[in-house]
Parts: sequence; structure tokens; C-alpha cells
Amino acid sequence: MKLTPRLQAIAELIPPDSVVADIGTDHAYLPVYLILNKVSRRVIAVELNQAPLQQASETVAAFNCLQEIDLRLGNGLHALKATDKIDTVVIAGLGGQSIAAILRDGRHLLKSVQQLILQPMSEEGYLRLFLARNGFVLADEALAREGRRFYEIILAKAGREQETDLFRLSFGPRLLEQKPPLLSVFLQEKIRKLKVVYHSLQRAEKDDVSSKLQDVEREIYCLEEVLIGVAASADLNSLS
Ligand SMILES: C[S@@+](CC[C@H](N)C(=O)[O-])C[C@H]1O[C@@H](n2cnc3c(N)ncnc32)[C@H](O)[C@@H]1O
Repeated sequence: MKLTPRLQAIAELIPPDSVVADIGTDHAYLPVYLILNKVSRRVIAVELNQAPLQQASETVAAFNCLQEIDLRLGNGLHALKATDKIDTVVIAGLGGQSIAAILRDGRHLLKSVQQLILQPMSEEGYLRLFLARNGFVLADEALAREGRRFYEIILAKAGREQETDLFRLSFGPRLLEQKPPLLSVFLQEKIRKLKVVYHSLQRAEKDDVSSKLQDVEREIYCLEEVLIGVAASADLNSLS
């Protein structure tokens, strides 16, 4: 089975020999991949809705993984039991606020869990701030690209996040430190989208847009500064 770049980047953060809970599994491609490639010993695949659970069960049966993948209908982390001994929780493909709500509601069920692998579809900054303010360190971060769309993946662990600068924290402190190869094109795309927002705000005939305009302008400025820094360090690396 070949995963999309987004799911592949998630799979690459999962430690070998892991016991994984995939919350919001939908098609169950990730659990099947993890079992077929012997990354995980066991996966609990949780789905809120019956129709995607049915789809998941067809995928699991088609790939002959019924022994290793436990499919459960349930809401977030509440579908898990202490006896599952899960070490890795994946929540991918949901909005950042929904992921934060799932973690907030089921925090007491995370006792055996060593790492969370989270891939928000939106509100990535909100999720990072939520994690840092709720006893998680952003241990690692990755980017994936499918066509023009970029995806941010966060590996969080229990601990104290050291980054305190609000811009860096919500942008992705480990992305800024590690400067993955996709970072500069990711920044360019973010700046391009913000400029579209800026121009449409300018055209809006409303009185109350000036503070929003200032926020967007500040964010574009910060991102352009990061982009300059990334380009400078790439130049230095090419000289050495
Ligand atoms: C867009 S799909 C993402 C599927 C897969 N995780 C991926 O990244 O490709 C989101 C899935 O999460 C499920 N979902 C949403 N909220 C959930 C919750 N609280 N608990 C379990 N599943 C949930 C939805 O029914 C849907 O099938």
C-alpha cells in the first residue's frame, strides 16, 4: 500500500514496535500501512461515524489485518481503555480546534501515551498554543506537500515547551529551528495567501478592518523576515 505524502509523513514519525490509536481513522489507510510495514504491533482505529467505520472495516479485511487492527465506533479518546496500553496517538485530518477538544476531553486517558502525532487541517497555531499551555512540548514537527497544499505535522510529548515567543510558537518552533527542505516554499505560499487576504480586506468597504489589516501586515512582515533568514542560512550551507 502506498500512502499519500501527508499520511506518509505521519507514518514516518511513528516509532517502531508501537501500539497506536488512530482517532478519526476514516478509510483506515494509516493503520493498515503501519501493520503491513511492521511499524506497529497493534492499532486501535477509532471512528465517530458508522459510514467511515464501515469503509475502514472493508480496508482492514481487504488487507487481511483483522488480527492486528481493532476497529471501534466511538468519540475521540473515550473509545480507548487503560488495558489497550497505547503508546502513540494519531489524530489527523481534523481542524486544530477539534483536535484540541479531543485532547482536552480525554486527557485522563493519555496516561500510557508517550507521543501524540497531530496533523491539523486548519488552526495549526491555535493547536500549538493549546499544547504548550497544557503541558506538552512540541518535540518535533514536519511538513508535507500534496500539489499546492501544505500540511503541518506536530509530534507532542508531555513536558514543558521552552519557546515563549508567540509568533514562533504558533508558526512552529521546531520547523523554524530545523528548517526542513519544504520550509521556504511553504513560507512563500503562506505569504502569498496572506497578501490575497490583505488586498481583499483593503477592498472591503467596512470601517472595522483596520486592526485586522494591521494584524495581517504584521504577520506578512514576520513571515518575510523568516524567509530571508531561511534563504541566508541556505546560502551559508551551500558555501561550506
Ligand atoms: C477527514 S477524516 C480524516 C481521516 C484520516 N485520519 C486522515 O487523516 O486521512 C476525519 C475523520 O474523523 C472522524 N471524526 C471526527 N471527529 C471525531 C471524533 N471526535 N472521534 C472519532 N472520530 C472522529 C470523522 O468521522 C472522519 O471520518
